[in-house]
Amino acid sequence: SGSLTVGELAEKLNKDSSEIIKKLMFLGVMATKNQDLDADSIELICEEFGVEVEEEVVVDDTDIENMTFDDDPEDLKERPAVVTIMGHVDHGKTTLLDRIRDTKVTEGEAGGITQHIGAYQVEEDGKKITFLDTPGHAAFTSMRSRGAQVTDIAILVVAADDGVMPQTKEAISHAKAAGVPIIVAVNKMDKEGANPDRVMQELMEYELIAEDYGGETIFVKMSAVKGEGIDELLEMIVLISEMEEFKANPDRPAYGTVIEAELDKGRGPVATLLVQNGTLNVSDSIVVGNTFGRVRAMVNDLGRRVKVAGPSTPVEITGLNNVPQAGDRFLVFEDEKKARSVGEARAQRQLEENRSATAKVSLDDLFEQI
Ligand code: GTP
Ligand code: MG
Repeated sequence: SGSLTVGELAEKLNKDSSEIIKKLMFLGVMATKNQDLDADSIELICEEFGVEVEEEVVVDDTDIENMTFDDDPEDLKERPAVVTIMGHVDHGKTTLLDRIRDTKVTEGEAGGITQHIGAYQVEEDGKKITFLDTPGHAAFTSMRSRGAQVTDIAILVVAADDGVMPQTKEAISHAKAAGVPIIVAVNKMDKEGANPDRVMQELMEYELIAEDYGGETIFVKMSAVKGEGIDELLEMIVLISEMEEFKANPDRPAYGTVIEAELDKGRGPVATLLVQNGTLNVSDSIVVGNTFGRVRAMVNDLGRRVKVAGPSTPVEITGLNNVPQAGDRFLVFEDEKKARSVGEARAQRQLEENRSATAKVSLDDLFEQI
């Protein structure tokens, strides 16, 4: 940033390139017209010509949302699947998530502390699975509308006694738009009036066709309340993971998505991040949405302090200057100064946007009063 070639500097100073090159030679630097000059050389040359240099504020508009990263296929390693649970209100999403966590995370592991960090990992057949505790499609929608694709597999919960409802349909269209495999969890099988066949028939209309009906969609009959069908559901997730081979490169600076964030009275801004690629480390310089900072401390889903978080790992961090939003992207920069300039530029832009929004509102208010 802020670099100029010899030719460009000459133009700015209204000199001939050869004069610049001569001065540089005098300073012991051999340069050509198209050579880039660093800030120090530029300052020295300007001094030589008696020109004062104004500190230029560089706006670093690195677009962290639309950056693309190419990993060498050889660097890619298996990573846990990221699973989101969706479905109609009251069909049992939260109960299912809680039940999976209860059955798979032993008391000892958790250290007796129930830490809610909005996402957690369990292990089945030696394979880790990450569950996002964003039940309700609202969070899913807001993340997707902001370009954050975080889910690998969608679990569609349908209550066997209620069948396909409006939000079931919405969930299906979200999952289809995201292009992720769908597993149907036919829940509340313990209830009187449970009718799994009706659920299967209703879902045929949405091309979710059970094997019993000649299709390929996995249906798991279960009762979240009774803990029935949980193991089968997890086995099916493992099966899909094995088929899809979700991969990431753990040996690069981390990037991913904010799952949730809040301002904690004691700890300041706290954000739960899902690392989607790379490895996040304590003291990494990070840009998160329109804020930035250095990772001060990381806590995993069991409430334990950790120093590293690899791909598909949810982790809670502190050390940010401000509170980001769910769905924001985050990106680690190896260069702390770069993180700062990108972060500051984004914070500044946000501030200006807020200001102009406020200005508009007050103008409207004014007209309303007239
Ligand atoms: P929202 O977050 O409001 O969309 O609901 P949800 O899908 O998370 O449903 P939740 O897990 O809160 O369950 C709703 C109600 O259904 C609760 O009273 C649960 O106890 C009950 N429930 C969930 N699973 C089962 C089940 O397998 N059998 C029975 N009988 N009840 C269940
Ligand atoms: Mg719920």
